[in-house]
Amino acid sequence: MSQPRNPIIVALDVPHLESALALVQQLAPVAGAFKVGKELFVATGPDIVRRIRDTGASVFLDLKFHDIPNTVAKAVEAAVRLDVQMLTVHTSGGLAMMQAAQRSAEETSLRTGKTQPLVLGVTVLTSFNTNDLAEVGVPHDVGNQVERLASLAAKAGLGGLVCSPLEIARLRQFLPQHVQLVTPGIRPADSRADDQKRTLTPREAMAAGASWLVIGRPICAAPDPRAAAEAILATL
Ligand code: C5P
Repeated sequence: MSQPRNPIIVALDVPHLESALALVQQLAPVAGAFKVGKELFVATGPDIVRRIRDTGASVFLDLKFHDIPNTVAKAVEAAVRLDVQMLTVHTSGGLAMMQAAQRSAEETSLRTGKTQPLVLGVTVLTSFNTNDLAEVGVPHDVGNQVERLASLAAKAGLGGLVCSPLEIARLRQFLPQHVQLVTPGIRPADSRADDQKRTLTPREAMAAGASWLVIGRPICAAPDPRAAAEAILATL
């Protein structure tokens, strides 16, 4: 997937098909893509992806696959057949798993004629700190572990990474230029932080080197979601 004109990915963090589709109808003209995560996907099944694709909008399927390489390859194949444009895997699944995911994206796309999705690696979840890492046997601080996993993702040939806005500048220093960075934790200057602790504004994140901005509540919980998205776009 090439660099988008509109970098806003709207996170559809809602539990029902109807509420998700209502947001898609309203926001499709001002969004670059829609993120479907575990809650919505488990509640509605693959139908939600088909219904969003029917509107012509792009889908980011954020299910964070982490399993043996063969199983992840098959899950990626199913996602390509569903015609998603971006999907996530855990980089801690290892080099072979990421390579299998990337190969499956390429081969299934060739076989089916569907777009080849951007396979994104998730490094250390932002809910983890250095103590949490130590508890699961990783004796590094979060920053070092993020860099190690990001390098491994690049070595596996993944097209992008999900990262916190405050990691963008550092990752840009050593990752190949073509690696796309997808960044949640985005808050417009005038909006509430909610439970996000380390945020940048949309403009700051783009200036730091983000390729895509994942934005949920500042758009979806606004009184007028379409106006909120347009206001954010106008700042970029
Ligand atoms: O509402 P808000 O803009 O905070 O939503 C951000 C979206 O990005 C949510 O879907 C959230 O799960 C996701 N996300 C995040 N932080 C991460 C990874 C994903 O906020 N580190």
